[in-house]
Amino acid sequence: MDIVKILLCVGVWSITTADSSVPTAKNVRWMSVDFTTILKWTQQSDYSYSVLYSESGGDWTESPDCSQMFGSECDLTTHLWPLDRTYQADIKTDDPDYDLEDLPHTYSPPFNPYMESNISAVKFTVEEVDAGTVTVNITDPLTAIHGDGKPFSIRDILKKDLQYKISYYKSESTRKRDMVTQTSAANVTGLDAGQSYCFMVAAYIPTRPKATQLGAWSPQQCTDGHRNILQDLSLEAWVGIFFVLLLVLVIIVVVTLLCYRCHHKKNNGLQTTQTSAPV
Ligand SMILES: *[C@@H]1O[C@H](CO)[C@@H](O)[C@H](O)[C@H]1NC(C)=O
Ligand SMILES: *[C@@H]1O[C@H](CO)[C@@H](O)[C@H](O)[C@H]1NC(C)=O
Repeated sequence: MDIVKILLCVGVWSITTADSSVPTAKNVRWMSVDFTTILKWTQQSDYSYSVLYSESGGDWTESPDCSQMFGSECDLTTHLWPLDRTYQADIKTDDPDYDLEDLPHTYSPPFNPYMESNISAVKFTVEEVDAGTVTVNITDPLTAIHGDGKPFSIRDILKKDLQYKISYYKSESTRKRDMVTQTSAANVTGLDAGQSYCFMVAAYIPTRPKATQLGAWSPQQCTDGHRNILQDLSLEAWVGIFFVLLLVLVIIVVVTLLCYRCHHKKNNGLQTTQTSAPV
């Protein structure tokens, strides 16, 4: 009985001292944009770390780039393949006093790149093609994942799951309208001809969990709108313009009359002096 107690005490003591002397990675998190996935953690003192990863329930593999490394991040992009699986990482703090299996370590949260990678703001153009119709042409962002010697776009990866949300509003109006498009080029119809409209676009993946469905919104792009100013004027404006023109006309007439009289008088004066001179 006593021996068991002593053994327990020693066991507890060694566990607690091991915990306090070898710091484990803290605050382990995934950062992923356009399927570039980096594992980050907070580094504790000057121990080195080794990163292992596994498809959930599978065998652990050590990342060749993140073995006994000094740093606080590890790019696992190329290892998390296929993308639509749930992965977990394990960060071991290297210490020569331990066997590899017993190293102090921290598990990462599970991560599915296909479902959880953020999608960056997309580039797009807008072009008025018709009275009341604007074509929004979206460029699918490229990823760091390559196939056939060229980078995959997010559409190469998400395929039919990729849609885009287009949010637009008429300049001078605050009422926004939304539409969803399955393709990267979409016509927005039913707009007021000649009006300027502003558009924003974000990737939209409705098959994902709510929190990760929407990509970042891109900065807005506006059409010029080539409005005919005369058409837009209200009745009050027309009445105003009429009175201003009338006033200008009256001023011109009055000034002309005054000048004419002035001139006439001067001419008369000159004529009298001229006619009187030779006499
Ligand atoms: C995705 O973006 C959100 C908002 O910026 C951020 O909170 C989250 O951590 C990001 N997720 C990943 C996996 O990078
Ligand atoms: C969209 O833009 C790309 C290049 O920016 C161009 O090659 C393509 O023809 C455009 N598509 C449409 C429908 O305008």
